[in-house]
Order: sequence, then C-alpha cells, then structure tokens
Amino acid sequence: MKIAILGAMPEEVKPLLEKLDNIKKVDYADNSYYEAQYKGIDVVVAYSKIGCAFSTLTATLLIEHFGCDVLLFSGVAGAINSGYKIGDLIYASKLCKHDLDITAFGHPPGFVPEGKVYIYPDEKLVQVAKEVAKSKNIDLKEGVIATGDQFISSEEKKEQIKTTFNADAIEMEGYSVALVCDALNVPFFILRAISDSADMDASFDFDTFLEKSAKISADFVLEMVKKLAD
Ligand code: ADE
Repeated sequence: MKIAILGAMPEEVKPLLEKLDNIKKVDYADNSYYEAQYKGIDVVVAYSKIGCAFSTLTATLLIEHFGCDVLLFSGVAGAINSGYKIGDLIYASKLCKHDLDITAFGHPPGFVPEGKVYIYPDEKLVQVAKEVAKSKNIDLKEGVIATGDQFISSEEKKEQIKTTFNADAIEMEGYSVALVCDALNVPFFILRAISDSADMDASFDFDTFLEKSAKISADFVLEMVKKLAD
C-alpha cells in the first residue's frame, strides 16, 4: 500500500512532513512531492496549490506517476452548518461542485452530462476514520462538502450553497480530488478542520486559524495511516 496525503497549501502539509521518516523530495510537473514513510508505511505527501485545477493535477499525478493506491486529503474548510465551530473536524459523506452551473440548459446545479452531482468517499476509509475518532474520543462530524473555485465570505452566498446542495462545509479542492479518485478507482477520504464560517469575518478568521486547524486535520489523518498499517 502506498498512501497519498494531499493538502492544498503549505500550511496544510507542514504538520504532516514534521512527523515523517526518510523524506525524499521529488520535483515533478511544477510541484514538489515528498516520498516518505510513516510508521513503516509508504506515503507520498504534496500540496497542490489552491483550487480545482491544481488539485486535479496533483491528485492525478499522485496516483498515475507516484503509484499511490489510497488518497487521504487533509486541510481546512469554511463552515456552512451553523453547528460547526472553528477547529471542528468534518469528513465528507459526499462532495459536490457548487460553482458548476449549466442550469441555463435545464440541468440541475452542479451537474454536467455524464458527470455526477455528488461523489462519495470510500466506505472502508470512513469506517477507519470513525474507529480513530472513537479511540481518541474525537467528535468527528460527517457532512456534505461543497467545492468551488471561490473563497466564500458572505452570508448570502453561503445560504445559496446551503439550500442548493444541502452543504455543511465549503472548500476549494475536495470535489476535484474525489472526481479523479472516483474515475481511477482509488479509495479516497476528504477530511477538513473548520478555519472560518464563510461569513464577512472569513478572511480574518482563515488567516488566524489556518495553521491550528490544519494541524488538527493532519494529526487525525496520520492516526488513520497508523490504523491502515495495522
Ligand atoms: N476554505 C476554508 N475556508 C473557506 C471558505 N470560506 N471558502 C472557500 N474555501 C475555504
């Protein structure tokens, strides 16, 4: 087994890299990939850069070029669900793309012909995450994650995404990573810790809580890797 651990930003992968052994940096296709081990398991860690285009490229290369057969995403998200607080951990029960819009042609929001509105993660990885949460006494939340190429910082936009997709959290890479893994039959799991509430304070909160929330997510993902090694 070779596990890809993907983030979008340097801050999201730094707490991972600090805990890995035998790190070898490989520069490829305008990015850096870190081949390493964690508790004896082979991992490849990378941050894609922000957004769907970059994360599609990086997820594809982690699988097709670096030979990863499982993908875990670790990072931060904005809360849409009013019950979520900064620092809460949420995994995607399904993911959608909120800014994919050809409704002008009569299609539903988030849908294009031959595509899917929602993509679902691997059930076994969800089970592993639930076991980790239980053993560590962590309140792991399950929710719908909406992805798009926009940083959301308005109540109005947030409400629209919530009502259209029943979304609980918002970010900028999950769906595109899910799409790559789904197409290539690679089990995946998308984990996020809340950094902001996607409201008018979102950019300030994001800057304030990015590192702390990213570490909460990274620590949990490494526990999952440990469990997958058993
Ligand atoms: N990632 C973290 N917070 C976000 C937000 N408010 N919008 C989009 N992506 C995010």
